[in-house]
Amino acid sequence: MVEPPPTLAVRGLSKRFGGVVALEDVDLDVLRGEVVAIAGENGAGKSTLVNVLSGMCRADAGTIVLDDVRVRVDTPARARALGIATVFQGLALCENLDVVKNLFLGREIGSLWMDERAMERQSTQLLRQIFSTVSRVRDRVGDLSGGQRQTVAIARSLLGDPSIVILDEPTAALGTTQRMQVLNQIGQLRARGLGVIMISHNLDDVGAWRTGWSSCGTAATTASSRWRPPPPSRCTRR
Ligand SMILES: Nc1ncnc2c1ncn2[C@@H]1O[C@H](COP(=O)(O)OP(=O)(O)OP(=O)(O)O)[C@@H](O)[C@H]1O
Ligand SMILES: [Mg+2]
Repeated sequence: MVEPPPTLAVRGLSKRFGGVVALEDVDLDVLRGEVVAIAGENGAGKSTLVNVLSGMCRADAGTIVLDDVRVRVDTPARARALGIATVFQGLALCENLDVVKNLFLGREIGSLWMDERAMERQSTQLLRQIFSTVSRVRDRVGDLSGGQRQTVAIARSLLGDPSIVILDEPTAALGTTQRMQVLNQIGQLRARGLGVIMISHNLDDVGAWRTGWSSCGTAATTASSRWRPPPPSRCTRR
């Protein structure tokens, strides 16, 4: 059977910060309906990869191809327009605002005035789609549990109908139950046919997905391999 082309294909991505090589010659493919998990040590370059793919920082070299078309992802707005949504490591939620406001911040529905009803409705739908345990969308995000905040961030990434969702350490600092809930929600994204990149420190998280295996080594060489893990403490190269 011929494999479909990847929805996202990254080739030769490199990024330096002065003398620090954060990414070196990274290759990565993500198919629709696939979760590619990336693990690596602190400082291995995982968030740099996320930032480059989400338009937060520009790579020194390399190409990004979406659905067979080479693209430039030079701003976060451009990334979103291209269908790449990101849940950043720090979540970037406003704790003093409620769930609806967090979901629609900067993308409010309504022209002359905000359509609060429509935003409430959509918020409830979005959270239901990923089986979130957040039931009251007018609760302050600061009053939610860590896992529930993560689901709000995941739900927000779905606004705008992305084809790729990138999650940077979505299970960090979560207990077992909440971690399983978040992994389940990521499974929902996959079931919807999205391509998902999940960054994690936790090798159990990586093992939860059998469809792809990637690793970032120290000194920041990153590569992806499918179906089998790379040799211990080394990175694979295509
Ligand atoms: N804006 C920046 N300016 C200078 N150096 C940076 C910048 N961003 C990242 N780096 C450096 O690049 C390297 C990779 O950092 P990055 O944050 O991508 O690692 P990481 O794998 O996400 O680590 P962690 O597991 O701690 O989140 C580190 O040495 C870091 O200090
Ligand atoms: Mg990081």
